Amino acid sequence: MKIIESPDYAHMSRKAANIISAQVILKPTSVLGLATGSTPIGAYRQLIGWYNKGDIDFSAVRTVNLDEYVGLGPSDEQSYAHFMRVHFFDGVNIDLKNTHIPNGLEPDARAECQRYDSVLRSLGRIDLQLLGLGHNGHIGFNEPADCFTKGTHLTELSSTTVEANRRFFEDVSQVPRFAYTMGICDIMQARRVVMVVSGASKARIVRDAFFGPVTPRVPASILQLHRDFTLVADREALSLVERE
Ligand code: F6R
Repeated sequence: MKIIESPDYAHMSRKAANIISAQVILKPTSVLGLATGSTPIGAYRQLIGWYNKGDIDFSAVRTVNLDEYVGLGPSDEQSYAHFMRVHFFDGVNIDLKNTHIPNGLEPDARAECQRYDSVLRSLGRIDLQLLGLGHNGHIGFNEPADCFTKGTHLTELSSTTVEANRRFFEDVSQVPRFAYTMGICDIMQARRVVMVVSGASKARIVRDAFFGPVTPRVPASILQLHRDFTLVADREALSLVERE
C-alpha cells in the first residue's frame, strides 16, 4: 500500500488526476473503474481541465462504474448515471457507448447483476479502479457484512450510508434504500486501485480500514491485500494515522 499525503482537497484531487492521466496517456484504451460521491469530483474537474488544454485524450477509454441506486434512471438528477455525465463524461471526449453503469431501472436484480458481470468480463481486467471511502468502510456499495461478496449484487444500504447520502436529496425518505454494486472480487482484480479520501470525518475509518485487521466488517480493509493500492488522502483524513 502506498500513501500519498496531501495538504488539502485540491492537492489530493490533482494527485489522483495525475495518476489517472498517466494511466490514460500510457494506455489510451484503458479500462477505468469509476466512482461517484463528492470526493472524486475535484479529480474529475482536473481531468476535464487537462483535456481542454489538449493534454489527455479519452476517445478510446472504456469505463465501468461501481454502482447505481435501484429505482433511478439516467434522467433522474440523483442517479449516478446523471452524476457521471455532469461531473465527467460531458466534459471530455469519451464515447458514451464505452461507458458502463448498472441499470437502476431494471427490477430483476438477478438479470441486472448477471448482465453487469458479463459487461465486466467483456471489458477484461480494469486497469485502474478509482474509489472513495464510506464512513462505515464501504467501497462501491459493498457494505459491512459477515463476508465479502464476489460479484455484482443487489445491496441494501446501511443506515449510515442512507444518512450520509441524504445531503443529495430533498428529504431522507427520498434516499434509495437499495443499489446495484460491483463486488469485492471485481475491485480486487483491478490492476491498480487508487482511493481518494478527504476530511476529518473520514480519519477514524481510514485508520481502521488500513491499519486494522482485514475484515468484511470494514470492507475497504481488503485493499491492504491488493498489490498496487494507492491511498491519496488529505492531512485531515490521515490525522489519526499520523498520531499513532
Ligand atoms: C460511489 C461509491 C461510494 C462512495 C463513498 C464515499 O460510487 O462507490 O463508495 O465512494 O460513499 O462517498 P463520498 O465521496 O461522497 O464521501
